[in-house]
Amino acid sequence: MTTAVIGTGGIGSVIARQLASGGETLRLSSAASESARTLAAGIGRAAVVAVDNRDALRGADAVVLALRFTVLEGVIDEITDSLIDKLVIVPSNPVGLDAQGNVLRLLPEGQSSGEVIAGWLPAGACLAMAFGTLSAGLFESSSSRSPEPAVLFYATDDGRAGEEVERLIRTAGFEPVKAGGIEQSGRLEVGGDLHDLVVGPAEARSLIGGA
Ligand SMILES: NC(=O)c1ccc[n+]([C@@H]2O[C@H](COP(=O)([O-])OP(=O)(O)OC[C@H]3O[C@@H](n4cnc5c(N)ncnc54)[C@H](OP(=O)(O)O)[C@@H]3O)[C@@H](O)[C@H]2O)c1
Repeated sequence: MTTAVIGTGGIGSVIARQLASGGETLRLSSAASESARTLAAGIGRAAVVAVDNRDALRGADAVVLALRFTVLEGVIDEITDSLIDKLVIVPSNPVGLDAQGNVLRLLPEGQSSGEVIAGWLPAGACLAMAFGTLSAGLFESSSSRSPEPAVLFYATDDGRAGEEVERLIRTAGFEPVKAGGIEQSGRLEVGGDLHDLVVGPAEARSLIGGA
């Protein structure tokens, strides 16, 4: 199967490497293309660099938008037609940096990036919020953990998206656990109770049940 990864920075590059390790074919794009080219060269034959964001989606079964929250809406507008009937996976947290480099929340308390992004997507796109719960370093070091796999939580309102995102989470070396619908996605994001947690399946399920 083929997944497009748009955004090949801190988290996009780790997601791409782990998916490729699990056998996924990738189509990569980034703003200036240099980071996508470097990443593709490191991955090898499983990854190709697309001409642009729209080209990244050609022939792809799913797309990961590994972009900062502030550029997401613009990129979604640019590729909106190509997102119809596609699984759209978003790891973005609603945070940015102020002039002093301090982390700043970009949405009001109680509003999740998942809920806002759902409103930016065209009808027919299948949104899953996933792959953004762990920092890049933790993601890389927790992948393919044994004997007990580490969990990646996800949230979606869409049954088909759920099946496909679970396949990709397993491909990346994790066990998928659904936190709920998109209305639960705040739990996965920075500040949420399921963010930056490395847990096994049993603990993950008890955390979900205990919400
Ligand atoms: N880093 C983490 O540990 C981590 C963990 C979990 C979740 N997240 C979330 O994931 C999101 C991305 O974070 P990040 O740390 O990966 O950011 P980042 O390192 O700044 O990477 C952003 C990527 O987006 C690309 N980009 C920017 N504008 C674009 C456009 N118009 N078209 C295509 N690509 C574009 C950049 O391209 P260039 O490479 O060409 O500049 C870069 O590859 C954020 O919302 C963050 O909250 C990050």
